[in-house]
Amino acid sequence: MKAVTWHGKRDVRVDSVPDPALKEPEDVIVKVTSSGICGSDLHLYEVLGPFLTEGDILGHEPMGVVEEVGAAVTQLKPGDRVVIPFNVSCNNCVMCNQGLQSQCETTQVREHGSGAALFGYTKLYGQVPGGQAEYLRVPFGNTLPIKVPDGPPDDRFVYLSDVLPTAWQAVEYANVREGSIVAVLGLGPIGDMACRIARHRGARVIGIDLVPERLARAKARGTETIDLRGAGKRLTEVVRDITTGRGPDAVIDAVGMEAHGAPAAKIAQQLTGLLPDAMAQKFMKEAGVDRLRALYSAIDMVRRGGTISIVGVYGGMADPLPMLTMFDKQLQLRMGQANVWRWVPDILPLLTDSDPLGVDGFATHRLPLEDAPKAYETFQKKADGMVKVLLKP
Ligand SMILES: NC(=O)c1ccc[n+]([C@@H]2O[C@H](COP(=O)([O-])OP(=O)(O)OC[C@H]3O[C@@H](n4cnc5c(N)ncnc54)[C@H](O)[C@@H]3O)[C@@H](O)[C@H]2O)c1
Ligand SMILES: [Zn+2]
Ligand SMILES: [Zn+2]
Repeated sequence: MKAVTWHGKRDVRVDSVPDPALKEPEDVIVKVTSSGICGSDLHLYEVLGPFLTEGDILGHEPMGVVEEVGAAVTQLKPGDRVVIPFNVSCNNCVMCNQGLQSQCETTQVREHGSGAALFGYTKLYGQVPGGQAEYLRVPFGNTLPIKVPDGPPDDRFVYLSDVLPTAWQAVEYANVREGSIVAVLGLGPIGDMACRIARHRGARVIGIDLVPERLARAKARGTETIDLRGAGKRLTEVVRDITTGRGPDAVIDAVGMEAHGAPAAKIAQQLTGLLPDAMAQKFMKEAGVDRLRALYSAIDMVRRGGTISIVGVYGGMADPLPMLTMFDKQLQLRMGQANVWRWVPDILPLLTDSDPLGVDGFATHRLPLEDAPKAYETFQKKADGMVKVLLKP
């Protein structure tokens, strides 16, 4: 089959690889019909190289049709339409049973001290072959795939794999209520969807980014926007000016470790790209080379006693945080990989023809799998108005 594979920094290719086969009785094989490219894939493309092996199959946002089922699969049959969560979770352990699927004890990657394995995502998360491919092997066939109805286009359901539950969790963790004021840093797919969900739940939402098309897209759906290029170092002031001087009740950081505007850390990150893998892994995990710009803005702008919800991915182990400010302002912090299944029952009722979250028109690009290398490059550069790509194997 054809699959998108990693070959090095900013080098992904479409290769011919062996078709996946059933290994365990509960496995299913899915023929992929749509597969998203995520901001998290950009970390693999740029800074997480030391944790990948050439030829790794990328992708963690797939949906498709069941092709084949293992002997112990009773809940699915060939032909069923399914979305695959990005967490490889059993939905049957102590963690999964309390809605912490990103910490699944059956798939935790203990060797690296990591949480649940993820599809298409580095040695730290189990090096599980991903879903930007024609076929995908999915374990836990009775409990992991999300069965969805036939009829509506893939766009209606595909974001259940990541974007929707991730943005939903970001809003939950931000403690957003009717009338809350919430600022969202970063208007990529995750931040954009978090704005939509927060507004749907009655909040006043302020979105911040530096890419004109992304700002315009959020504004078109009723989010107030601030262009980081204009606000610059005065960002907190600008936000306070429109929030009664106090600042927002909550800030969602939907940027993560590749934030714009932290040159010193950028050099350190680039350095890890040049070190031999073993050294670079140690350097990244122990020395911490994060770019904390977005998180620092969140800490600065949130009101006293407010909540910060970190959904952007961070990866360092020794990042300096302004504890004095955080303690003095009595901040509340929540974060983590999304627990996909936890939020599916809340989200499914919104995926109807009336489409309150605008999922049907969310993708800016739908491209054949062969175009993946160009799509990664364009998405990283934020060129061509690209916000969300769906690959169509
Ligand atoms: N927690 C999870 O489960 C989970 C799931 C999916 C994605 N993520 C993470 O969420 C983050 C966003 O993902 P995405 O797909 O939307 O990616 P993206 O890279 O398209 O979006 C990031 C946006 O942040 C903007 N930005 C950069 N620096 C900024 C700054 N200093 N202030 C404000 N905005 C800034 C960029 O212009 C861009 O539009 C990534 O870190 C990704 O890894 C986490
Ligand atoms: Zn993703
Ligand atoms: Zn589990």
